[in-house]
Amino acid sequence: MENIAVLGTQWGDEGKGKITDYLTSRADVVVRYQGGNNAGHTVKFDGKKYALHLLPSGILNPKTINVMANGMVINPEAFYDELSKLENSFNLYISDRAHIVLPYHIEKDKRNETKDNIGTTHKGIGPTYEDKYGRRGVRVADFVGPHNKEILTKKFEENKAYLSNVDINELVSKYLELANFMKSYVKDTSYLLNEMVHTKKILFEGAQGVLLCIDHGTFPYVTSSSPTAASIPINTGLAPWFIKGAIGVTKAYSTRVGNGPFPSELFGELADKIRIIGNEFGTTTGRPRRIGWLDTVVINYSKRVSGISTLAITLLDVLTGLDEIKIVTKYLLDGKEIDSIPASVKDFERCEPMTISLPGWKEDITQVKSFDELPTNAKNYIKKIEELTGIPVSIVSVGPDRIQTIEVKPVL
Ligand code: IMP
Repeated sequence: MENIAVLGTQWGDEGKGKITDYLTSRADVVVRYQGGNNAGHTVKFDGKKYALHLLPSGILNPKTINVMANGMVINPEAFYDELSKLENSFNLYISDRAHIVLPYHIEKDKRNETKDNIGTTHKGIGPTYEDKYGRRGVRVADFVGPHNKEILTKKFEENKAYLSNVDINELVSKYLELANFMKSYVKDTSYLLNEMVHTKKILFEGAQGVLLCIDHGTFPYVTSSSPTAASIPINTGLAPWFIKGAIGVTKAYSTRVGNGPFPSELFGELADKIRIIGNEFGTTTGRPRRIGWLDTVVINYSKRVSGISTLAITLLDVLTGLDEIKIVTKYLLDGKEIDSIPASVKDFERCEPMTISLPGWKEDITQVKSFDELPTNAKNYIKKIEELTGIPVSIVSVGPDRIQTIEVKPVL
């Protein structure tokens, strides 16, 4: 396998954790490059379920080197909690240039939400990136460095308005302990990755999905980082030419959590049925996810702005039993057919979906081991996605477990 990215082509929750975990045995290094504990990556094997938020999905494999790169925002308390729960040995490095999520960021996020109503995860992600770009943030190197007491005291004092009923001295002590816990993992990960890139295979693990990208997503209903393959070099300190391609993880249908336009959205009984069978409730927040048909305008858009070399289709088994399956292929905006996503959210809200319809299948596919064994209608559905997107499908997932994965074509 080449150095590749695994990223979401929709609005997140596509099953990237599972696909990353499936591929980790072929990679030496797994790198998370953006976002923070707003992500929720579920990995299931040997009957056990692991919900990862901050840590790279390679953390469950003792042989994998895991990197939390400079583009991430790290909540030290969440980091402590997640790492302490691990039962296996692991190998982990945190970038000295990543930014730290502090309690006032979380409070700001919650208060902003009362006005903006983006539907964030309330994890302080937006305000932490705001502080990064406003050049006021706290980087990991300073958080664990010799002047951390002074820096934290100053930051907590400056943001007192967001820390009501909190004793600042106690908070500083708590965060100094958390810094101490984090310290041994901190490294210049750009240096490390550049040393490893010639001898090791690297897998870059995106969080969220391309439609939640701060630049290319459905702004303002987006996250505050870029989950695209295009953002990897800046977020890791590795040159773009070391990344050979990206696997775009795509649900066999669509989901969205949080607010914002969603042209393929379904309501009523059908949406409820898919939500329950697909267990479409947020890993991070527990919120019920909005459900829609697969939308190839979205996938083609992601392909264009991010770069996607091959698709991994997940949750195909969830569609089993439907008489008919639809795919959104274009939108109608003010009477005109369009095949891309408009920049203005107001225009996107007015887009009406144009669909094609395919016959469904009734056979249980959860134990299927090869593409050929799939029912004809399931095969035709996959082939139609390839035709409409021009992207080859290399992986089809038919259940949450590692072994419920069909490799259709070699992955890069
Ligand atoms: P934030 O990232 O918490 O600021 O939330 C911004 C938007 O991104 C909201 O609509 C969230 O629901 C969405 N979001 C953030 N992380 C994820 C994720 O991992 N999966 C799906 N949606 C996410």
